[in-house]
Amino acid sequence: MASSSSSSSSALRFLISIALLLALASASDPSQLQDFCVAVPDSASSVFVNGKFCKNPASVTVDDFIYHGLNVAGNTTNAEGSAATPVFASQLPGLNTLGVSILRFDFGPYGLVPPHTHPRATEALLVLEGYLYVGFVSSSNELYAKTVCPGDVFVFPQGLIHFLYNVGKGQ
Ligand SMILES: *[C@@H]1O[C@H](CO)[C@@H](O)[C@H](O)[C@H]1NC(C)=O
Repeated sequence: MASSSSSSSSALRFLISIALLLALASASDPSQLQDFCVAVPDSASSVFVNGKFCKNPASVTVDDFIYHGLNVAGNTTNAEGSAATPVFASQLPGLNTLGVSILRFDFGPYGLVPPHTHPRATEALLVLEGYLYVGFVSSSNELYAKTVCPGDVFVFPQGLIHFLYNVGKGQ
């Protein structure tokens, strides 16, 4: 009697675990790296990938993971009065597929980075010098904007339209 009740309770526990597993199981494809990838029936057609091919690990060296020169200011003599110096996989091959990249922005007086989005990336801004008026617009059209100063870190959530504007007369 005792043994039958214990076996039925362990069967029940088993069923509960199965039910929990079923409830918790959720599978999805990883997020896409591109807007679309139209399949072609012709296997001989040329390969067209989003991103870059990987270097043979045997020939990877430490220099694949270092970028020099981000201490150099960009040239802000242009219509927007700002300059972006990207450190993306093109400039720093070791960044490829790591899901992170860095960018230096320089601003001339009243320089602007006009509203734009990064559909697949969140942006974190660290202000080293000067004052910027920065902001983003949420998907319910709410503006979140603020003047940030040296030492401030501001985040622009993935996919939301954002801008940066130098409110100061300085660089
Ligand atoms: C910055 O860009 C302007 C406009 O293209 C150019 O005239 C100027 O020589 C550049 N300055 C430097 C330091 O490269």
